[in-house]
Amino acid sequence: MQDVYDISAMDAVLAETPFAGKLHYFPTIHSTNPYALEQAQAGAPTYSVYFADEQTAGRGRGGHSWHSSVGDGLYVSVLLRPQLTLTDALWISLATGLAVREAIRSVTGMAADIRWPNDVLLNRRKCCGILAETSASNSADASAPLRHVVVGIGINVNHKSFPPEIDALATSLRMESGRTWQRQQLLVALLRALHREVELLEAEIAGTREGAGLLERFTQASTWVSGKRVRVEEAGGYTGVTDGLDARGFLQVRTDSGIRTVLSGGVRELE
Ligand code: BTN
Repeated sequence: MQDVYDISAMDAVLAETPFAGKLHYFPTIHSTNPYALEQAQAGAPTYSVYFADEQTAGRGRGGHSWHSSVGDGLYVSVLLRPQLTLTDALWISLATGLAVREAIRSVTGMAADIRWPNDVLLNRRKCCGILAETSASNSADASAPLRHVVVGIGINVNHKSFPPEIDALATSLRMESGRTWQRQQLLVALLRALHREVELLEAEIAGTREGAGLLERFTQASTWVSGKRVRVEEAGGYTGVTDGLDARGFLQVRTDSGIRTVLSGGVRELE
């Protein structure tokens, strides 16, 4: 099966969403995230979507690279301008993790887990990473309004294997299900789910909706939020048991010396 993107067909099925007419496809690109950030700076419309068959310099979190072999994965960056401050930018990452989980569920039927803040896992291995990059009017002030946020999403779809350095940690939808999946179908499902999450988040922030909020829904979707024995790879490294999210969405870990707040991720399960 040749897994190619049909932009007109995608525009048609996304007609009910703000992404229609804003899809930008690249056979190859260095990385969709810096490209999207440049476009955002140059005034590209909110909900612009940049995606590629291949990235030659895919970016991961914490200065890592993102394995972006040609035709195997979904490599996509979405430009958002939510009514949030820099402090609340974490909420976008959490909401995107929920959207990816829903897209995987709706297309493949598989139930993924989310490792805080936003690694999506199948059978304890990572099948998706999310890199949210922000620009605020004053980046020194956490209460400054966000100008824009670029949400970069990499989903391992049809990979048959991975380079040795990530082989033990990574998986793909194909490796977990034994069959290939259409990236286009997954991208459409992802954009629909992301639109829904952004709408829910904006309504929650505006105080115009009832029902479970983002942090509650994230807590329900992730086995990592409570009761997991973990090692945290920050502040010199420490171990403890996860103990919920604080009001801003940061993970709490109960250690021998009290509750600590995880700020940037790097949470790993202790056997
Ligand atoms: C992580 O390290 O977990 C985050 C990985 C994010 C990868 C995606 S792929 C699309 C976008 N472009 C990039 O270069 N990175 C993000």
